[in-house]
Amino acid sequence: MDAITPQPRPCWIAGHPEQGVREITVHHPYDGTEVATVAVPGPEQVERAVAAAAAVAKEFRQTPAHVRATALEHVSRALGERIEEIAETITAENGKPLKWAEIEVRRAVSVFKFAAEEARRGGGDLQRLDTDANGVGRMALVRRVPRGPVLAVAPFNFPLNLVAHKVAPALAVGAPVIVKPASATPLSALLLGELLAETDLPDGVFSVLPVKGGDMESLVTDPRLPVISFTGSTGVGWSLMESAPRKHVVMELGSNSAAIVCADWDDLDQAASRIATFGNYQAGQSCIAVQRVVVDRAVADDFVPKLVAAVAALKTGDPHDPEVEVGPLIDEDNAVRVKEWIDEAISLGAKLHVGGGRSGTTVEPTVLEGVPDDAAVWRQEVFGPVLVVSVVDGTTEAFAAANDSEYGLQAGVFTRDVKVAFAAAAELEVGGVIVGDVPSYRADQMPYGGVKGSGTGREGVKSAMEDFTEERTMVLTGIQL
Ligand code: SIN
Repeated sequence: MDAITPQPRPCWIAGHPEQGVREITVHHPYDGTEVATVAVPGPEQVERAVAAAAAVAKEFRQTPAHVRATALEHVSRALGERIEEIAETITAENGKPLKWAEIEVRRAVSVFKFAAEEARRGGGDLQRLDTDANGVGRMALVRRVPRGPVLAVAPFNFPLNLVAHKVAPALAVGAPVIVKPASATPLSALLLGELLAETDLPDGVFSVLPVKGGDMESLVTDPRLPVISFTGSTGVGWSLMESAPRKHVVMELGSNSAAIVCADWDDLDQAASRIATFGNYQAGQSCIAVQRVVVDRAVADDFVPKLVAAVAALKTGDPHDPEVEVGPLIDEDNAVRVKEWIDEAISLGAKLHVGGGRSGTTVEPTVLEGVPDDAAVWRQEVFGPVLVVSVVDGTTEAFAAANDSEYGLQAGVFTRDVKVAFAAAAELEVGGVIVGDVPSYRADQMPYGGVKGSGTGREGVKSAMEDFTEERTMVLTGIQL
């Protein structure tokens, strides 16, 4: 009897599952085992997806808010009913430990719930125009309308929730969305396609196209997709913006986020534990993972040994093992790169406190100190489990060290001094300052995004909905006010 070969997981074209013209194989980052094969659509299928999104845009924009909200609620509920199974999928394709994968699914449940709530709000603003003589008897109704179908390009590090952060706000405002998941981690996005297909949304409102990054150019330049929401590497992000100068592009890019431990912070155990955890969660593969640790000299001698001990205690290994805190990097090339950057810093005179080794795709959680500021581990985004400690004198020096970066996503400031907190919020060149915690704190409803090389625009459900829409003004004449 012939062996039954399982079909590749289907891609989603205009809301329907289809096989592709070829397939890609998804491998588990920890041990390279095959997880699944996935159907890759060809140019004709991609064209049908884009044409359907453009064709349905008007109808979808006019869909009643309750219909959109109900669909979003369905996805939220369905994700909530399958948390463990979906977390398994995330761990299998991405390699993050199961507990972090579960947190990711729970966050996606909230993102769809918040989007459903926001979809029911927002009737527009009335503005009286008789504040000027030529506006007497007139008023304006200002409403937000979708800019048009959204191209959502998602990264590998949160294969579900960073797709949710693009899909849910797009559907909430009534904009069709075409998802291009990361080639290494398409499974969670395809699963989301399955849940969206269970809703009453019109055909064409969503497609999930697991095409290779190199085959994305036609989508990026296609005028029928006037909005691009991209999360990924800095180089790809800015070049994509150059390829589509007339589009509305929202970009969440990289960072080398700093945590500042001020002289007044008395709970050094807590700061050490939070920084150790959030420098290494997902093996450092989060844009807001702590990378640079800026410590006031007044507390450095007490703090650094605590940090080193907390990092040394983190267990590495198979991400399915519930004891494991730090899993693999997404692939061996990245593990090799991170190891080379650690070695470079040491060769430039940095002190290695702990870690520094690599085995396959796993890099040991590492703490370096005294790194010259031209070393890659200080200057660039490591996206690996590496913390770089810099000792400074006072908050002015601390803020300057944190700002010594081409990036600016979020910063964490451990202080109880409200004046220092406000100074940090004013002076740090970032999109968000987290007082009393690590830069890695993100609530999915709050605005999230960066300045400088970290991107442009904001995610967070409400902020993304603003980004995906534009104001449209209607002036009424001859009105009695
Ligand atoms: C990111 O890596 O930019 C996303 C971080 C998060 O959503 O927690």
